[in-house]
Amino acid sequence: MSRGPKDRIGITFSQHIALQQKRFPGATGTFTALLQEIMVAAKIISREVRKAGLVDALGLTGHTNIQGEAVQILDEFANETIIRNVRHTGHLCVMSSEENADPIPIPEEYPRGPYAMTFDPLDGSSNIDANVSIGTIFSVHRRVTAGGDGTLEDLLQPGRSQLAAGYVIYGSSTILVYTTGTEVHGFTLDPTVGEFLCSHPNIKIPESGGIYSVNEGNTSGWDDPTRRIVDGLKNGANPVGKAYSSRYIGSLVADFHRTLVYGGIFLYPPDRKSPRGKLRLLSEAAPMAFIMEAAGGRATTGRESVLEIQPTELHQRVPLIVGSRREVEWVESVYKEDADAR
Ligand code: AHG
Ligand code: MN
Ligand code: MN
Repeated sequence: MSRGPKDRIGITFSQHIALQQKRFPGATGTFTALLQEIMVAAKIISREVRKAGLVDALGLTGHTNIQGEAVQILDEFANETIIRNVRHTGHLCVMSSEENADPIPIPEEYPRGPYAMTFDPLDGSSNIDANVSIGTIFSVHRRVTAGGDGTLEDLLQPGRSQLAAGYVIYGSSTILVYTTGTEVHGFTLDPTVGEFLCSHPNIKIPESGGIYSVNEGNTSGWDDPTRRIVDGLKNGANPVGKAYSSRYIGSLVADFHRTLVYGGIFLYPPDRKSPRGKLRLLSEAAPMAFIMEAAGGRATTGRESVLEIQPTELHQRVPLIVGSRREVEWVESVYKEDADAR
């Protein structure tokens, strides 16, 4: 990973976004303030994740979410923390969360703002009890409706029009990575001062890497081109001509972060169980695709660019193939050959 301009290393996230804001003369500071609130929520979630085993915060709540998944205590805590931290500030007109069936309105008593935000409060939550890395993913769009309460229309926007996207990974350290579409920057939480400090300015993914990442337990449900691709990554029948190493954590944030840092490819292709893919377009695939492309990589469903998809449903799922340019372009070409031969 290229670390880019060294002079930003060590400055706080707040200082960094204030510097970025100065690049846009007409900026009102509303957007900067929203990012600040997200960062504060991330610190609170990080604190809770760190002590989860000590305070009875592990395990299930006993109910399921809109997608039929078991909700963990920490899922609920993260969801409520984000909603509480951002809803009163006047930056947003509407929100949506992976954990809520419908758009989350801004309560009557608070002002409405110019942005709409979608988030996955806790990604990889099936890994929590095993102390594996988990994360938070967020995506911000400018509202498209005129005023008053935001609507579904403000949330159902293509990934390409995101103003910002980012994730926080609660791993061996807590790292926040974000982009406004041009550069990608990473910040590490220094727990002794309670601040996110710039540790990875201007992250660029390597053109090509040595690792592929996919849940191979799904092999029997894959289509032919997907099998050929994964076989090719293993046996060297790929344009780079080498056999790749395999890593799969099962937390998108963690698998994605490793791919961004080391290069290579992450795939969650469609399979018989999830014919439209498993990952959620608005809260997982689109923000990760936006970050990956800003870092010089690529993101596709195999058949189209993730960022060009016009969403039709809040919890829509898509295949996601993301990573270094060289590997992803090859995968796209295999799917295209297969489609052309039909
Ligand atoms: P979430 O915990 O937010 O529901 O997301 C889980 C997702 C994602 O983090 C990961 O990439 C994927 O599910 C793993 O799925 P499999 O267990 O099917 O491999
Ligand atoms: Mn998730
Ligand atoms: Mn989640």
